[in-house]
Amino acid sequence: MKTDALFDPLRLPNGRQLPNRLAKAAMEEGLAEAGQLPGPAIASLYQRWAEGGAGLLITGNVMVDGAAMTGPAGIALEAQTPLDGFKHWAAAVHRHAPAGTQLWMQINHPGRQVFAAMGETAWAPSAVALQMGKHSKLFAQPQALGEAQIAGVIERFVQTALQAQAAGFDGVQIHAAHGYLLSQFLSPLANQRTDRWGGPIEHRARLLLDIVDAVRAAVRPDFGVGVKLNSADFQRGGFSEADARQVVELLNGRGLDLLELSGGSYESPAMQGRTADGRTLAREAYFLEFARELASVAQMPVMTTGGIARPEIARQVLASGVALVGLGTALAMAPDLPRRWREGSPLTAPRPQVGWKDKTLASIATMALVRRQLHRMSAGGLPSAADSPLFTLLLDQWRNKRQTARYRRWRAAL
Ligand SMILES: Cc1cc2nc3c(=O)[nH]c(=O)nc-3n(C[C@H](O)[C@H](O)[C@H](O)COP(=O)(O)O)c2cc1C
Repeated sequence: MKTDALFDPLRLPNGRQLPNRLAKAAMEEGLAEAGQLPGPAIASLYQRWAEGGAGLLITGNVMVDGAAMTGPAGIALEAQTPLDGFKHWAAAVHRHAPAGTQLWMQINHPGRQVFAAMGETAWAPSAVALQMGKHSKLFAQPQALGEAQIAGVIERFVQTALQAQAAGFDGVQIHAAHGYLLSQFLSPLANQRTDRWGGPIEHRARLLLDIVDAVRAAVRPDFGVGVKLNSADFQRGGFSEADARQVVELLNGRGLDLLELSGGSYESPAMQGRTADGRTLAREAYFLEFARELASVAQMPVMTTGGIARPEIARQVLASGVALVGLGTALAMAPDLPRRWREGSPLTAPRPQVGWKDKTLASIATMALVRRQLHRMSAGGLPSAADSPLFTLLLDQWRNKRQTARYRRWRAAL
């Protein structure tokens, strides 16, 4: 009988094997408890995904610094953070998932993509604010990082990776996509430094490469280390496909186990299929063309995420030389999609669409619709494709406001 490529195992460079080719992509859960810690809600959500059959679960981004958060209900893991909640989270996955399923923690620093309401100073490669038109004021005006602070950032990524390892996670994914700090360093628009961290791509990539090297050297040899990278920023003058190709070449030979390719940022939300430079992405598997091209250069397994919801498309991704298929929204709407595909179901996950004129608000509302499904599942409920975008956005904003106040109280009490 012909086997289904989606369910072929994949051996990683670190020697460990993933049971299949379907990966749950990172989605910030917005479920932190007080102190930005994980609790039972996040463990329940991941139990659902563990039972759903994806071979690799990548967590939503976990911050390496509690003073630099992508959102008010995000999780932070620092050198001194107590590990109990993290251990329960990892154990929930390993207890309920098919044998061999791995759980990786995505680790991130937001750089300038910090909401002004959080009340913290935003640090970035250069003091260049986000350009979001009339929504620009939502974000803090950043300041440029000094040399010693950059060394501190590298150390934080290492400490967070070591903590993830100690808590029972199987790997970490270093987030260098979507306009966050490492992606800002890679971008000639956000990084206007003239020192060894700015200028040519070898310099702009230095922070990412130093972090990869330092993390790889610190963790166990069989602990997974991956990177999520933009195949391009899709902004005029931004991180280009040629830049991405060079970064992949620079990442070769550094002991990486996985390279996930995505695209975009707040300024150009290509990961939602929409670009700021007017380029058109594929309607499904947005970054497949780029991933195919970069997979021919990459010496580590490549994964691509964005717009994939149908099994035929997932198979097409694998047939292009890409090793893993990343699923975000699809697994928020149907957490057991891999299991169903394995059983032969052709099920396509529904995809929330918000057709508002204000594209920024439409993006935020789409994210809120997806996040709402994560919250439902964390409370034992089922996802629903019938939510009102406006009501969901208002609910999300109300939650955000309360959680921002809680975050500010936590920071003030430290
Ligand atoms: C609610 C939500 C939260 C997300 N959080 C993250 C994140 O923490 N880290 C990340 O790399 N990508 C994040 N993403 C982007 C996804 O990983 C993925 O790249 C994107 O949604 C496109 O894939 P999809 O079409 O399968 O959803 C998020 C997406 C959504 C919808």
